[in-house]
Amino acid sequence: MKILVITGSPRKNGNSNTLAENFIKGAEEAGHTVVRFDSAFKNVHPCVACNKCGMNGQCVFKDDFEFVKANIIDADAVVFATPMYYFGISAQIKAVIDRFYAINGQIHVPKKAVLLMTYADTSEKEAQPIISHYESLIKYLGWSDAGKVIAPGVWPEGAVKYTKYPEDAYTLGKSL
Ligand SMILES: Cc1cc2nc3c(=O)[nH]c(=O)nc-3n(C[C@H](O)[C@H](O)[C@H](O)COP(=O)(O)O)c2cc1C
Repeated sequence: MKILVITGSPRKNGNSNTLAENFIKGAEEAGHTVVRFDSAFKNVHPCVACNKCGMNGQCVFKDDFEFVKANIIDADAVVFATPMYYFGISAQIKAVIDRFYAINGQIHVPKKAVLLMTYADTSEKEAQPIISHYESLIKYLGWSDAGKVIAPGVWPEGAVKYTKYPEDAYTLGKSL
């Protein structure tokens, strides 16, 4: 299986990247091929709604999204790894998702999807907007949820290492 992992945190050793790394370790051990796109360290211009792509064509911006385009169409699974920023996903990963617009016609094919998300608060309720966004997105695309690792109560970089969630991400990657 080919898996595209899209991360959204600017903290290289941050909590969502730690979940992504553990997920990737499990997936690779299970024999899957993993490609990774770290949105926060790439140049991806936000969609400007010019509609030149017609939702299925060439985007006016030729930037690092080309990598996502080249790897998402034939991916069997797509993983979204993001911190919570003001109750939503990070702007960095959202910019990448919005650019799906130009390849919308090519990605409505069955794929598995995974959500890895970290946040500082401990209330489960506060994770709901991101979970709901993720579920709406994959339903629209015709993808199916293969699992989520939602890690509350982690604020400083690295805090997630002292929880069970990296192990959960590893197990999810291995079981995919
Ligand atoms: C701009 C910004 C906004 C944040 N907003 C929230 C929030 O709404 N709720 C919350 O619980 N934590 C919030 N946090 C904390 C992060 O979600 C938390 O530290 C997370 O584990 C960071 O993941 P990372 O290490 O992968 O970047 C915010 C952090 C930043 C920098």
